[in-house]
Amino acid sequence: MISMKRSFSLLSLLTLSLSPYAAAQPVDSTAVEWPYVNTGLKRDPELEKVLDQILERMTLAQKVAQMIQPEIGYLSVAQMRKYGFGSYLNGGNTAPYGQKQASAEVWLKYADEMYEASVDAKEDGSRIPTIWGTDAMHGHSNVYGATLFPHNIGLGAANDPELIHRIGVATAKEVAVTGIEWSFAPTVAVVRDDRWGRTYESYSEDPAIVKAYAGQMVSGLQGTLGKDFLQGFGRIATAKHFVGDGGTEKGIDRGDTLVDEQGLRDIHAAGYMTAIQAGVQSVMVSFNSWNGVRLHGHKYLLTDVLKNQMGFDGFVVTDWNGHKFVEGCDLEQCAGAINAGVDVLMVPEHFEAFYHNTIRQVEQGIIPMARIDDAVRRFLRAKIRWGLLERGKPSSRVESAQMAVFNSQEHKELAREAVRKSLVLLKNNQKVLPLSPKSRVLVAGDGADNIAKQAGGWSVSWQGTDNTNADFPNATSVYQGISQQVEAAGGKVELAVDGNYKQKPDVALVVIGENPYAEWFGDIQQLEYQHGDKSDLALIKKLKSQGIPVVTVFLTGRPLWTNKELNASDAFVVAWLPGSEGQGVADVLLSDNQGKARYDFHGKLSFSWPRYDHQFVLNKGDANYDPLFAYGYGLTYADQTEVGPLSEQVSATAASSSEQGIQPLFLRNLTADMAWVLSDGSATQNSAALITTPYGVSADGKSLAMQSVNLSYQEDGRQLRWNAAAKASASLRYIKPVAASKHSKARALRFSLRFDQQAPAELNLAVLCDQQGRCQRQLSLTEPLAHLKPGVWHTVEVALDCADASAVKRISDALVFSSSGQHSLAVADMVLSAQKSTETAKDFVLIGCAN
Ligand code: BGC
Ligand code: BGC
Repeated sequence: MISMKRSFSLLSLLTLSLSPYAAAQPVDSTAVEWPYVNTGLKRDPELEKVLDQILERMTLAQKVAQMIQPEIGYLSVAQMRKYGFGSYLNGGNTAPYGQKQASAEVWLKYADEMYEASVDAKEDGSRIPTIWGTDAMHGHSNVYGATLFPHNIGLGAANDPELIHRIGVATAKEVAVTGIEWSFAPTVAVVRDDRWGRTYESYSEDPAIVKAYAGQMVSGLQGTLGKDFLQGFGRIATAKHFVGDGGTEKGIDRGDTLVDEQGLRDIHAAGYMTAIQAGVQSVMVSFNSWNGVRLHGHKYLLTDVLKNQMGFDGFVVTDWNGHKFVEGCDLEQCAGAINAGVDVLMVPEHFEAFYHNTIRQVEQGIIPMARIDDAVRRFLRAKIRWGLLERGKPSSRVESAQMAVFNSQEHKELAREAVRKSLVLLKNNQKVLPLSPKSRVLVAGDGADNIAKQAGGWSVSWQGTDNTNADFPNATSVYQGISQQVEAAGGKVELAVDGNYKQKPDVALVVIGENPYAEWFGDIQQLEYQHGDKSDLALIKKLKSQGIPVVTVFLTGRPLWTNKELNASDAFVVAWLPGSEGQGVADVLLSDNQGKARYDFHGKLSFSWPRYDHQFVLNKGDANYDPLFAYGYGLTYADQTEVGPLSEQVSATAASSSEQGIQPLFLRNLTADMAWVLSDGSATQNSAALITTPYGVSADGKSLAMQSVNLSYQEDGRQLRWNAAAKASASLRYIKPVAASKHSKARALRFSLRFDQQAPAELNLAVLCDQQGRCQRQLSLTEPLAHLKPGVWHTVEVALDCADASAVKRISDALVFSSSGQHSLAVADMVLSAQKSTETAKDFVLIGCAN
């Protein structure tokens, strides 16, 4: 290829530093050169010969089976035996035999079953063993009882590549003893807009840290090239998600990354440079688009850049159903992704159809046989490099026999060290810290004794919202860590989450922060901490007003605008999402008996901390960079810095949506406090299952079903399909009822709606209802919407300020659609608004109080 290296013009420099989000210039794909970074991993000619022989013997069906990766919630052992799939995964919510608390031994047993079924495959005479992939995101984090290291954002603050290597080694060991060969980690996203729900999976906004870490994590997990590469405990690692996942516009998960190619390379691809250098065997494709084109179908980036120019010699795996977003594809087939260069496809549920369709597409010449051979060769090369053909079934492998490494004392100590090193001290006025362990300490706040909260998402469950301390055996909360150490020193500790102590303390430690979330569930529109609900600020102020010094420990997956909480606290420590070893916090916050610090603060911000609540895109190197605490900030005990009163002004820009009174109910996705409920009338209203995934069905399995549809973004809408003689209803429910005051300003409900076939014979709506079924408004939509053209999206607005509005005190359901018969409709963009519209556009339906 002729490379026409673009000269470094002033203009390109400017567009890059001013905003990586500036609308992309039309880019000549030959203009940017990507470096060849595979400097260490060479092909072995002997192995290539073996691969020739294996491929020669394999049938097309066997090859396609190698390329497909089902998920254990959908795949049975019998299906593995029938097809001999090349790999399988457990998603964030699935454990073997459906047991969330399955022991490491049970995971190993399951690995054996799948392995044996794969080599026993009837339709797969090649008998190539399968491998199991899992998200070992921060330790072996899907597995009950595993050591949980701090999430990546905390590790980034530690700025210690050698520590990352050791964490990689420890994680690989815990994965190994469960019989699993492959981890979908590390995430090497460089996050630029902290509204993104996956910010905590990122080491830094700074490509330099991500670059320094990626290779270390890969060699920790896989073993080091030229040394113990892919041997012993070494597992196959995955650099993800290629590429630009951290750069989407407005931080929208799976969104569009608008950046020129140089920015894509220098900011977002930084981690791949060292991951590939370290010999990473797999790269996962990202859900996002680059300048409007989905990565899952991006031949230029996957084949030309990643494989050819950068020299990546492993295999490319897709993300969960990621293929369905490619032009011309759906859940069950996707020649476009395979032809673009993906080698293994994560097809959790529709793997049987996908398998048959892919075989057919090859037979019809839609997918070239050479592409299939290349994909299978790449995957088998990695499997054989890892020793899969010799290592035997999972439980028979030498490394599996060493079960004692799982959550060993050594690993717990390492995680605790990582917690100590990740803490960032933002404020320590009058040197409140360190605390004497001989004093009387109150530990308050809902994060105090809450391991689920300190572990965050991707911890035993996907969202992490359903966890309790019982899901983390052998782990330590922040409170427990403080309590052990204070009591040993002769001090006194009292735990009172609400701050209502029995005995007045010398000092209060208030542990607060974000509740767990994962992926798009964590996307936010406001940077203000507890926007609209200042209960934690009230707690801090209450203690302060009693003359008690307050140290706030902030558990968070990202920097947030916390000026009010900072002002109210004497000291403020960001602990990120520290994981299972809460004692690490006590190690740094408590002095020895002589009042001398035992461990100093070491963490420095790897993400800039906002001064204003509208600083959504705030990164080191920005023009007009104006953070409250700059990248690299972090006090130590030697510092004399006093943090003065900070402006508490809420800005117009950030507040615009709330000032205009728009409160999202379901805007692009569910918020963490809500779920869908589909009732067929059989279950009582309040006992029906909460659905937080995009799919679901009522208890009877048929009356009402839900699935995701797309309006403006992926999966930003829900289709509701009725198939019932009697009435069935879909509610958007608060998991915990909220005070009606939350929505007291709402004067209208607005949403997008599409009837799929015809307007239903009956459709009712109830808005803002309590558990007894009293609602702010209940009405029939049948007549007002009877004229809507099927297949077309409309905006519907329903007035809420009608004379008969009842005085609902606590809101359980934000809205409830009920209907019967056989029909389907789709809804999206549901918001409450403080203002009523006057608009009468063609596709706009205003429903006033008269209806
Ligand atoms: C995530 C990936 C993850 C996969 C399997 C996807 O939704 O984006 O990071 O590896 O699920 O759990
Ligand atoms: C799985 C996750 C996956 C997500 C994507 C969840 O049900 O558990 O692993 O990332 O779906 O949709």
